[in-house]
Amino acid sequence: MKITLPVIVVNFKTYTESIGEKGLKIAKAAEEISNNTGICIVVAPQHTDIRLIANQVNIPVFAQHIDPYAPGSHTGYILPEAVAEAGAVGTLINHSEHRLILADIDETIRRAKEAKLKTIACSNNPEVSASICALSPDFCAYEPPDLIGTGISVSTAKPEVVTKAVELMQKINPQVIPLCGAGISTGKDVTAAIKLNTKGVLLASGVVKAKDPKAVLKEMAEAAQKTL
Ligand code: G3P
Repeated sequence: MKITLPVIVVNFKTYTESIGEKGLKIAKAAEEISNNTGICIVVAPQHTDIRLIANQVNIPVFAQHIDPYAPGSHTGYILPEAVAEAGAVGTLINHSEHRLILADIDETIRRAKEAKLKTIACSNNPEVSASICALSPDFCAYEPPDLIGTGISVSTAKPEVVTKAVELMQKINPQVIPLCGAGISTGKDVTAAIKLNTKGVLLASGVVKAKDPKAVLKEMAEAAQKTL
């Protein structure tokens, strides 16, 4: 399943508003808005909901994390091949809320590629963004941890840091597609992120905890559409 740009990635995290049937409802809303606007919307549910959602929507479904183990005698880890078999087409890696050491990010990207999963590697500052881009993920999403969950958008609160992160990413590896996230809550935030030369956004609470997630996604997707 192709991921077209600009892309809106909705991380369901561990919010109760996005588990099980509630998560499926948000995913179906994302699919409807994506179909109506032509803007790619990716959803990243809890591992236990990947199959439920991937079987019922025709938009990219990502895991929130995978473990870089090979198949075999390991217990309680998330095998890359298992999330692919469940219907995931990619995975987040090194989210600020599930941070890894660089060596593990490297191995996780390698194992994701073995399992034919696309990779969105997350970074917490421009220099880490550059380091991660040297490991050749498909996407790198810069997210300042202090803005995560605040509703204060990185694209309006820290435009100069987003610009620096994108410049460093492109300098180290122009093949990696830059994204940004943290506090993205409106169409204006999406427009600002794209104007800063990112190719999309990674977000969570602005949609998952919204009174009307579909309405927020519609506003965001229409804003992204206007940048084309
Ligand atoms: O993965 C995206 C997330 O960390 C951003 O959180 O709630 O600020 O959109 P939020």
